[in-house]
Amino acid sequence: MLAEYNPYLEYKDGNLYLDGVSLKALAEEFGTPLYVYSASYIRDRLRAYKKAFPDALICYAVKANFNPHIIAIAKEEGAGADIVSGGELYASLKAGVEPSKIVYAGVGKTIRELEYAIESDILMFNVESFMELDVLNDIAGKLGKKARIAIRVNPDVDPKTHHYISTGMKKSKFGVDIKTAKKEYEYAGKLKNLQVIGIHCHIGSQILDVSPYIEAAQKVVELYHDLTRAGFEIQYLDLGGGLGIKYKPEQSNPEPADLAEAILPVVNNVEAKLILEPGRSIVGNGGVLLTQVQFLKDKGHKHFIIVDAGMNDLVRPAMYEAYHHIVPVEKKERPYIKTDVVGPVCETGDFLALDREMLLVERGEYLAVLSAGAYGFAMSSHYNLRPRACEVLVEKGFYRVIREREDYSYILRS
Ligand code: LLP
Repeated sequence: MLAEYNPYLEYKDGNLYLDGVSLKALAEEFGTPLYVYSASYIRDRLRAYKKAFPDALICYAVKANFNPHIIAIAKEEGAGADIVSGGELYASLKAGVEPSKIVYAGVGKTIRELEYAIESDILMFNVESFMELDVLNDIAGKLGKKARIAIRVNPDVDPKTHHYISTGMKKSKFGVDIKTAKKEYEYAGKLKNLQVIGIHCHIGSQILDVSPYIEAAQKVVELYHDLTRAGFEIQYLDLGGGLGIKYKPEQSNPEPADLAEAILPVVNNVEAKLILEPGRSIVGNGGVLLTQVQFLKDKGHKHFIIVDAGMNDLVRPAMYEAYHHIVPVEKKERPYIKTDVVGPVCETGDFLALDREMLLVERGEYLAVLSAGAYGFAMSSHYNLRPRACEVLVEKGFYRVIREREDYSYILRS
């Protein structure tokens, strides 16, 4: 069952291993909460994308996990980067990603961020409003450069996912309405420091059924033909990220090939190069969060396992009521129990699992929270003045720390 999450995750001699490294040994050496990522898994996923989309540019969505060592794996596998901030540009460049493979979306890019990205000569700005077109044009002019752009269009497709992470609907703050996008394109075409080269869309995240991609791609291709007829030279169709992953035991882990089967026939007759921006489907099931059981508490009608990882470490359950599968690091005979798994933070919403039927563990034992490689550390915070977790990268039996655990003075430096 674990192999369906990640083939490099397995019990050996009664202990959980990731990519050939004992998770118990890592927890003991580096303490908990601890994020551990499998480089082999991340490489496999990037290669699966490359194989399914041989002619596309795969831009790893850095927002899923911005550790430069993770971005560097994407770079080594030939990927570029999809960024949403100056910080993510900095991390991508630090990881060695070629600027010619970086795309930049975001509704609220600041002047400093736009300057930094123009100076870095990134491939393409995915522009989200008329006003941004003007500002980008001004800044590019001042810097004596031309900025290459796509317009992020909203195809109004329901990705059938959590409403917080569906981004391509009419009412969302992202992009411009695809029906009237030609106006933005015509306006951009007149601005002399901009070069229109693409169309961008991203319909949402954690999408397990690929049919919404077909609908979105069809609408984007229609716009492509419309723009081409109007004289635009559209060189890139950027269809964003969003492919989902297995979180629950009964869910499947869709393959990039499933996405290819949906999208490629639609974009077949299009001359432009395809760009994809996968994040979660690259790193999500590559990572686990290790946490130690602090206390057990039985309140009669309710049982609690209290662990040392809180919503500041992994906010997804608190924020989206997201399900993360949790397994003991040591395998042994144990009874099942219905329990909540909660963290130490002073919020009722601070839980990793609610009313979960799971194996009963003891104080001091370690638990592995699965599917934690994406939007785990990246969304962590210092709430309750809790230092952020240590991150370790494992590959074929070797391991190294890729971000040290913070201490109090680091957080409070002034
Ligand atoms: N491209 C754009 C423009 C995006 O906004 C996103 C994600 C991606 C690509 C990557 O999507 P992915 O392949 O990772 O689904 N924090 C939420 C997810 C937010 C996603 C935001 N945008 C979560 O933990 O589920």
